[in-house]
Amino acid sequence: MKFFIDTANLNEIKEAYDLGVLDGVTTNPSLMAKEGISGDENVINHYKAICDIVDANVSAEVIATDFEGIIKEGKELAKLDDKIVVKVPMIKDGIKAIKYFSSEGIRTNCTLVFSPGQAILAAKAGASYLSPFIGRLDDISFDGLDLIAQIVHIYQNYGFETEVLAASVRHTMHLVKCAELGADVVTCPLKVITGLLNHPLTDKGLAQFLADHAKANK
Ligand code: E4P
Repeated sequence: MKFFIDTANLNEIKEAYDLGVLDGVTTNPSLMAKEGISGDENVINHYKAICDIVDANVSAEVIATDFEGIIKEGKELAKLDDKIVVKVPMIKDGIKAIKYFSSEGIRTNCTLVFSPGQAILAAKAGASYLSPFIGRLDDISFDGLDLIAQIVHIYQNYGFETEVLAASVRHTMHLVKCAELGADVVTCPLKVITGLLNHPLTDKGLAQFLADHAKANK
């Protein structure tokens, strides 16, 4: 299973990368705005800064929603660095663009996926990654994990090569359940990755080991 971090915050990206378990970074326009990044040049420079930190792939989202605009923007993003994966929304022109990028050897991440039908369409178009948003489904009383199970099953039925990238992951149990279900990748905030470290018996056991060692060696 691959771990991507879902943020545009450079310090968090560094911290996750230093842990040695990071396989990629995903961003979106809201995450960029949250870091106060605005204006084309600043956005481009921020993607470059992320690529300088990690030796891993970096999803950069297009803003255009028409075919020509998505192609133009996606090509500019892809040119920035070999690590860039062009993130394209699940809309009609987005699917056409994913098909085009796939024929040009440009990797894509199809984003804003909420149904198995959308997942089939994106795989048919040749998306490299598919981002079903599980937390946002949970928010409206649909089971996001059910969607992951359905998509993994469908992709296995047909041998689709599109990787299932579980997105909108809100807590550690989302991540663990996605692993059980066979998602290829999860993208999540830093706190979800570091949250995996925690267990009170680990803390208690370590304290005991250190105390026993200190007693025996005084
Ligand atoms: C995916 O690539 C998105 O950036 C992200 O996972 C959305 O998560 P949210 O629902 O917590 O905003």
